[in-house]
Amino acid sequence: MASMPRGRIVGTGSTAPKKILSNVDLEGIVDTNNEWIVRRSGIEERHISSKDLDETTTDLATRASRNALDMAGISPGKLDMIVAGTVTPDRQFPSAACMVQENLNATNAAAFDVSAGCSGFLYALSVANNAIQCGNCKTALVMGVERLSTIVNWEDRGTCVLLGDGAGAVVLTAEKSDSGILSTHLKSDGSLGNLLYSSEGKLKLPQVLSCIEQKSFHLRMEGNRLFKRAINCLTDIAKEALNHNAIKETDVDNMIPHQANLRIIQATAKNLKISMDKVYTNIQRYGNTSSASIPIAMDEANREGLLRVGATVLLVSFGAGLTWGSALLKWAI
Ligand code: UT7
Repeated sequence: MASMPRGRIVGTGSTAPKKILSNVDLEGIVDTNNEWIVRRSGIEERHISSKDLDETTTDLATRASRNALDMAGISPGKLDMIVAGTVTPDRQFPSAACMVQENLNATNAAAFDVSAGCSGFLYALSVANNAIQCGNCKTALVMGVERLSTIVNWEDRGTCVLLGDGAGAVVLTAEKSDSGILSTHLKSDGSLGNLLYSSEGKLKLPQVLSCIEQKSFHLRMEGNRLFKRAINCLTDIAKEALNHNAIKETDVDNMIPHQANLRIIQATAKNLKISMDKVYTNIQRYGNTSSASIPIAMDEANREGLLRVGATVLLVSFGAGLTWGSALLKWAI
């Protein structure tokens, strides 16, 4: 039917570091308790990368990508674009995507990172899908990968109990069909960047000095102020996706939201009148892995057989920037 190609997900993959840090473990690190963390966030444990294992951002992203490529049955040489959503690349440059490109030997791809906080994966997916729609790309690898443990302040109980490390990836191919990515919608509000950030913007010192003196590389968050805004933004951007495609809330088969807080997910689903049985959550086991959370959840839901061919799948995210986004898919693996 459609004459313009669209991106279709043909493979998913994910991975997380070996070490699991439970809420009880955290009780020995900061003044917190399992009951508070579960009640306020839904999180029970998270994966944290270790220095002595192969668990850098690049290692995790490469592993997730190989899993996605294996499922797709596509060799890395076929990729013409690699896009990584991340705020914790191993180096300022080259990009995480280029470092993964080297590991995969994906010599024909243009590779770059997208920085959009927890919305990084949906921003990356949108960029790759747009390239496919323009005819600039036929096969793309899109990742969300984070090691938030490297920038978290392990003395700040307001943030360190919430975050985790991991990576997820999808392979997209250009298809002229009704299945695949039906739409993506992205929004930002830079005026609220101070609600979640990792460096002191007012500081005039060179970055290296300022980091050492002020520990300004640490992630800082005003969780309570983000909470309500997250629910409203997620609800609005989900409605925008549904309206754009003339699809009713009741026609959504699966919702895969960014996993920041179980209460945010439940309130968003309630606003959208989407039953929680249709909403995939794994925040209990991973915590908030920022841009990795949607592709990890999508890979798990896919491998658990929860996403049937033809299903209408809604992805929604919200994060630092502020940024938020949605993608509506007709599932086709
Ligand atoms: O990833 C995308 C962006 N992030 C988000 O969208 C996150 C949005 N925000 C949230 O998920 C929630 O706001 C949090 C989980 C961060 C916090 O939940 P809350 O219900 O908003 O709690 P709060 O920040 O209002 O804190 C309530 C109380 C405070 O004590 P007082 O002032 O009432 O005495 C905190 O000091 O809980 C205290 N508290 C803790 N207590 C035990 C904060 N962190 C902890 C902790 N353990 N880890």
